[in-house]
Amino acid sequence: MIVIGSDHGGFALKEEIKKHLEERGLAYTDVGCHDTNSVDYPDIAKEACEKIVRGECDKGLLFCGTGVGISIAANKVKGIRACCCSDAFSAKYTRLHNDANVLCMGGRIVSAGLAEMIVDLFLDTEFEGGRHQRRIDKITAIENEQ
Ligand code: RB5
Repeated sequence: MIVIGSDHGGFALKEEIKKHLEERGLAYTDVGCHDTNSVDYPDIAKEACEKIVRGECDKGLLFCGTGVGISIAANKVKGIRACCCSDAFSAKYTRLHNDANVLCMGGRIVSAGLAEMIVDLFLDTEFEGGRHQRRIDKITAIENEQ
């Protein structure tokens, strides 16, 4: 199960990506927002990311105007590794090397076509493990020191 969410700045792109997920037959739950009225992206990030850490969802797709604010908020939730991404290479490698569980994009930055490609790479690429697991463990250790 994928959790998807956005603020008003990412709303239009979120709706495009929902259609793409449906075309692929992938299940998602949408934590909002549900229109273009202004909302605060940390609220959306928190609700979505808590679904992941509770084990209700495996991965998250989050959108705001730039992708930056919502990725900063998502990364404050313990257990979340969120990548703000505008290119295909980063989308693939944040899965291979960082085992990222949340992808963030900017609705005012990334076109729908590119966003679909980025989403597909993110969802379809497996974590490589090996030496990268040691680095993830060090990220988790930093988290646990706070
Ligand atoms: C909202 O106007 C905007 O600040 C937000 O969508 C995002 O870009 C923040 O990083």
